[in-house]
Amino acid sequence: MTTTYPQSSQRAWAKAIAKSAKEFDLTPLPVLSGKIPEGLRGTLYRNGPGRLERGDRLVGHWFDGDGAILAVHFTDAGAKAIYRYVKTKGYLAEAKAGKFLYGNYGMTEPGPIWNHWLHLLTNNDPFKNTANTSVLALADKLLALWEGGNPHALDLQTLETKGLDNLKGLASNQPYSAHPKRDPQTGEIYNIGIDEKSTLNLYRSDRTGKIVQKAAVKLNDVPFLHSFVLAGQYLVFFIPPVRLNQLPMLLGLSSYCDALQWQPNKGTRILVVDRETLEVVSRGETEPWFQWHFGNGCVEADGSVRLDLVRFSDFTQTNEYLREVTTGQTHTPSFGTLWQVRLNPQTSKVIEMQQVVDRCCEFPVVQPQQLGQPWRYTYLALHRRSAEIGREWFGAISRFDYQTGTLSEADLGKNRYVVEPIYAADALNPERGWVLTVVYDGNAGRSEVWVFDERSLDEEPVCRLGLPEIIPISFHGNWKPD
Ligand SMILES: [Fe+2]
Repeated sequence: MTTTYPQSSQRAWAKAIAKSAKEFDLTPLPVLSGKIPEGLRGTLYRNGPGRLERGDRLVGHWFDGDGAILAVHFTDAGAKAIYRYVKTKGYLAEAKAGKFLYGNYGMTEPGPIWNHWLHLLTNNDPFKNTANTSVLALADKLLALWEGGNPHALDLQTLETKGLDNLKGLASNQPYSAHPKRDPQTGEIYNIGIDEKSTLNLYRSDRTGKIVQKAAVKLNDVPFLHSFVLAGQYLVFFIPPVRLNQLPMLLGLSSYCDALQWQPNKGTRILVVDRETLEVVSRGETEPWFQWHFGNGCVEADGSVRLDLVRFSDFTQTNEYLREVTTGQTHTPSFGTLWQVRLNPQTSKVIEMQQVVDRCCEFPVVQPQQLGQPWRYTYLALHRRSAEIGREWFGAISRFDYQTGTLSEADLGKNRYVVEPIYAADALNPERGWVLTVVYDGNAGRSEVWVFDERSLDEEPVCRLGLPEIIPISFHGNWKPD
């Protein structure tokens, strides 16, 4: 059930999602401070729910919003941005009807329940592919990703939606998750999809995105798995103890999210897969926790796997907090911190696990050229020290240095909010890089793009660009160099 709160008690971030986002055409962005670095050439793409209401109804969960993509092109002539909804079948049908027509992660299909059964029986999917979670920028197309179905392909420049794209290998509606891993050396892309038949589907694509190898790992039940790790020659899975109770969801009696059960007695299941053969190397189990996201993974000199992730003590609280976001006021504390794990890939046994950042954080990312390889820095969205956890959204970005054990941080100040930091390598100097984030400035009531020198996050951003419309808080993005 959705609870609404008086607007006066809302925090400033609520204004960033209060209205459905407005699309805009390619627009030159004014430089508000600093200067665009000469070596920053390419495009920042971001995806997130742009619209959380239709007619007089609010979505059931933040994850239900229709995907909208922001592209910011950095060129010799300055920066330009464009913003477009992904024109999915569901988006177009609901726009025409002026109301919600489908079920989703946090909502059941509207209308009489037999509509849902009829849709299932006639193979008419009663769920909407919202295409709202992340993007994958390929050489000739942009994919909008959503973990319950096929990706949508868009034009890299105009963001025009071309339609569903099966990557020459996916069956209709086959899930292709939102956290693919691209090997920086070979260009190969690995991804997963968990289906309702208790199968973990594994996909390997070439650099164009075309699926060239598939495998299916049978599981005992349907878990909830958002992401995984590429670590050297392995794919590593930590399957949290969240299970889908399928029957009420399939009958339309419960939303997907309400059919997920936190079962800590089951522990976290570990699976290590060989990335060449896509065969299981080992299986194991460890203590229960929940993670949405991993930072990175690699194989160390002694053959062990090292990886990091943002760990929550359970699923229920983080999911509830994310559900509350849609109401404009959150009140469930959701406290994730950065942990490092060392694992024996031959046995799936955890050798060591320790918290490395005790501040509340999310959206860990690394430099794309180090994905799957030894790395030094993990970048994060972070809560400000003064933030009331559970009420606020992230107001700082940071870099954790594994070599020195230190955290450097850009605190944006009161009522300013960040999204996942994105690392962009400098085109002129491979030793340098920039960290980009889209900021909602609740003091000024506008959205901006901030560019930091990754070596000095605690200094002023090197550049701030004004966006023509408010961009709602988004989930994930990519940097595509020119
Ligand atoms: Fe994610």
